Amino acid sequence: MTASVPPSYFGLPALAGLCEMNTAVDSDWSLDESVSRLKRLHFCLKRLHEAFVSRVTAEPIYELKTLFSHHAYLCAEQVTLLRSRVGEMREPPLGLDKVPCPALDQLLDEIICASTTVDFLIGTYGVAIPAVLSACERLMHDAHPLADAPTVRTAKLIRFELSEIVTIGTQAIACVRAHAAKEPGKTDDTQVYLESIVQAAGLIDGTQIETAPDLPPRRSSETAFQFQNEPQRDERFQDSFNAGVNPEAFLYDESFSARDKTLMMYYKRIREIDVPEMMASILVELRDEEPWEFHAEMTRQLWDEARHAMMGEVGFVANGIDWTEIPINFTWARNLNLQLDARQRHGVLFFIEQGLMPRTGKKYEWEVGVKSGDALSALFQDFDWADEVLHAQIGRRWYVPKFGSLNEAMQYGDDCWSQVLSHWQTYRDQGLTEHRNWWPQIYLQACQNWNTDPDPAALAFCETYADSRADLKKLP
Ligand SMILES: [Fe+2]
Ligand SMILES: [Fe+2]
Repeated sequence: MTASVPPSYFGLPALAGLCEMNTAVDSDWSLDESVSRLKRLHFCLKRLHEAFVSRVTAEPIYELKTLFSHHAYLCAEQVTLLRSRVGEMREPPLGLDKVPCPALDQLLDEIICASTTVDFLIGTYGVAIPAVLSACERLMHDAHPLADAPTVRTAKLIRFELSEIVTIGTQAIACVRAHAAKEPGKTDDTQVYLESIVQAAGLIDGTQIETAPDLPPRRSSETAFQFQNEPQRDERFQDSFNAGVNPEAFLYDESFSARDKTLMMYYKRIREIDVPEMMASILVELRDEEPWEFHAEMTRQLWDEARHAMMGEVGFVANGIDWTEIPINFTWARNLNLQLDARQRHGVLFFIEQGLMPRTGKKYEWEVGVKSGDALSALFQDFDWADEVLHAQIGRRWYVPKFGSLNEAMQYGDDCWSQVLSHWQTYRDQGLTEHRNWWPQIYLQACQNWNTDPDPAALAFCETYADSRADLKKLP
């Protein structure tokens, strides 16, 4: 039926600018269809979040490690949006944990189980996310613009935020592909294969389910995904077992200048790339044991820690220092991942972050930054401090309630950390590192760039982690 549309008052946009009157009159949209499409999008983005998190630890290339941390966070934000929209239209249980379609399940399984980084990048950035974007575009177009306006808005927001991922991801595919050694006998048909699964699903949103072809057999996902919990680093990271310099000992020594301390703070920041490497293992192992809200908040924290590492990277660039000359230690994440279970690791994380709250923690680092005259250091430490306050709150929401009191929760984290063997001597005995003191070389380089004379006492600094932890507590 075509309605005769009366002219709008004063020619003003009708219907709050959502659409033309004709569009609102002519629609065969339904709430069921809306929920069904949102649930399929939710499933794909939740599994994409899982995929990105599960690669953070074992992906050696630093730029991809940080990229996956970022994109895991963005997917998590969209998942939260979708869950709340579905919750507005349905009574619990919302059925958000149900697999909406076997083909979508297989698509995401194949991506998670990808045997090479190139295949993983193609699966996420080349196939799945572009297909999710197309589904969002159809949803924006098909949903009733007035009755289902909140869904249209949700689809718009997701499309806006995820379209950047595709642009950046496409660049990443080209770069990694150009450098990846081709495996003998392996044909480069991952994209075609994964796209055929999308077709078999009747597209991400199921809008072409009637004409969908058969689902091709599984390939990589024939065997279940195995999470690799040992952190890997690319070739620029030299001597990663090196714990020959204790930056905390320098930072809290009153006799050293604030300017010199900024270098140790940049080191502490860039070294934080080991926090996402550790946190990813918590998220993977507690996947089914904790609710979505836990994963969403912890993913924000994981991404923040990757940002902190990049702030350190930027600090070194700003000071004319090649950070690849510095051993960026990974044994904190490695030891925790290999020696503790997920709950114990969470305890250590909380204990450390809660310990950053008193006067000697993040506030002190910010004060050093301000005093140093290095504006970038002050800026980064201020944001780092804000982030860490948030992380301590996340810990209080998700970790502390498992204990009788804050003190018990802290004690458990401290005990778990004490239980971790640092293997300082063992790593040296095994020839994995000499714990070389890298500090004088970096400090001299910085002094040269600053046009200042080195402080002889600072130059002679040589405290290691041989018998102490990062909170300066002595090891037994
Ligand atoms: Fe941090
Ligand atoms: Fe943190």
